[in-house]
Amino acid sequence: MHIHPSETLPRHHKETLLGQKGCVLWFCGLSGSGKSTIANSLEHVLHDKGRFAIRLDGDNLRGGLNSNLGFSDNDRLENIRRTAELAKVLAANGVIVLCSLITPRGAFRDLARGILGRDFHEFYVKADFATCEARDPKGLYAKAAAGEIKDFTGRDSAFEEPQYPDLVLDTETATVQDSVFEILEYLRGKGITA
Ligand code: ADX
Repeated sequence: MHIHPSETLPRHHKETLLGQKGCVLWFCGLSGSGKSTIANSLEHVLHDKGRFAIRLDGDNLRGGLNSNLGFSDNDRLENIRRTAELAKVLAANGVIVLCSLITPRGAFRDLARGILGRDFHEFYVKADFATCEARDPKGLYAKAAAGEIKDFTGRDSAFEEPQYPDLVLDTETATVQDSVFEILEYLRGKGITA
C-alpha cells in the first residue's frame, strides 16, 4: 500500500473509477409535475447500466436536513442553497446527483447555478397547474383549495417558468419512459456517461 499523506485525490480519478462524470441534474417544476417520478425511474435505469446516482428530493430533505424550513421565499431559498451545497460535494466526488425541488423562482435557480457552476443542468418538468391539480398525488391541491396550506406554489406563491432550461420534460405529453430516454441521450451528448 502506498501512503499519500497530503495529496488530494483528484476528482477525475473517482470519475474514472465510476465510469461517469459528476453532475447535478436539477429537476424543477410544480408539485405533482413528475419530478420525483422521473428522477426515481432514471436512478433505476442508471443503476442497471452500472452508473452511480443519488437522489436529493425536496420532500425527503425537508424531513431531515431542511426540517426547520417552511415555504416562505426565504425558507425556500435556504432549502435550495443547502441542497445545492450538498449536491456540490457529491458531484465533486463523481456522483450523478438528481435533485428534485420545485425551485419556483428564477432567482432560486440562479442561486443553485451559481453554487454548482458547470455541474448544474436545469431540467424543467413541465405540467400546468390544472394538470397537477387533477393528478393531486398527495392530496395537497385539494387541501390548498380548502385554504389549509399556506403559500402553496402556483396558487398563493408564484412559479416562474424557466427561461432557458437545458431540457424541457413535458409530462402532459411524454411518458416517464420518454423523459428518461431523453435524459439518457442528454447525458451521452454531454459526455457525462458513455
Ligand atoms: S421548494 O419550493 O423549496 O423547492 P420543495 O421541492 O423543497 O419546495 O418542497 C415541495 C414539496 O413540499 C411539495 O412536493 C409538497 O409535497 C410539499 N409542500 C408542502 N407545503 C407546500 C407549499 N406551500 N407549496 C409547495 N409545496 C408544498
